[in-house]
Amino acid sequence: MRVVLLGPPGAGKGTQARRLAERHGIPHIATGDLLREAVASGNDLGRQVRTYVERGELVPDEVVLALVKDRLRKPDAQAGVVLDGFPRTVAQARGLDRLLCNLGCRLDAVILLEVAEEALVRRLAGRWTCPVCGRVFHELYHPPRTPGVCDVDGTSLTQREDDRPETVRRRLAVYAEQTAPLVEYYRARGLLHVVDGSQEPQAVAEAIETVLRRVVEVF
Ligand code: AP5
Repeated sequence: MRVVLLGPPGAGKGTQARRLAERHGIPHIATGDLLREAVASGNDLGRQVRTYVERGELVPDEVVLALVKDRLRKPDAQAGVVLDGFPRTVAQARGLDRLLCNLGCRLDAVILLEVAEEALVRRLAGRWTCPVCGRVFHELYHPPRTPGVCDVDGTSLTQREDDRPETVRRRLAVYAEQTAPLVEYYRARGLLHVVDGSQEPQAVAEAIETVLRRVVEVF
């Protein structure tokens, strides 16, 4: 099973991708996480990437495609993957088609999570993330048991630099300009499935599973 989770910033891609990957025993590949790891490492690539991420702009396609190519070749990615935040441009989608073709496989489904813009802004403003295990919380919608502390490993939670309101506005505009065209790209290939991402996380997860059961039956 090779699935892409598509949707604007804050739509719940990371939340759902993590659940889906755990449930099906396949890796969750999030380009945002790969890029943040590069930034944290402080190497040349990380310094280059940082300038894009902190402005809410997309990192150049060739940089992202090179990271994804390496990750898709790892042994744990051979049985399937959940792709989160990638592809994000039509050039990346074409690059993904080529990478999968070279690996002798193809994409099974693209799930578009739809959420109204006001809700996206509220979700990003209240998001807290564990810097160690990557678990994501929300101060209202999914609060940790102890405020500011990860339920899983007790680490202090942090807020992402790019969740500042002005950067969120830029990320939403970049999504509309550069990523939204992927909806038609995948619809035309019969791969697009729209899920209402404004429901409770559990209801969203169930809707995704229903879609994927249908996809598996068709193949
Ligand atoms: P990335 O890390 O991919 O960010 P994003 O796509 O903007 O998505 P987010 O992580 O902000 O949101 P999400 O949809 O995962 O929502 P989440 O589950 O966390 O990218 C960051 C940057 O990296 C980009 O701006 C770009 O610079 C660069 N980049 C990354 N990929 C790239 C690529 N392919 N090409 C070029 N550049 C790239 O949920 C959000 C909050 O809502 C959480 O608090 C959560 O608890 C809560 N929540 C989730 N679901 C629900 C629900 N159903 N109801 C209520 N609350 C919910």
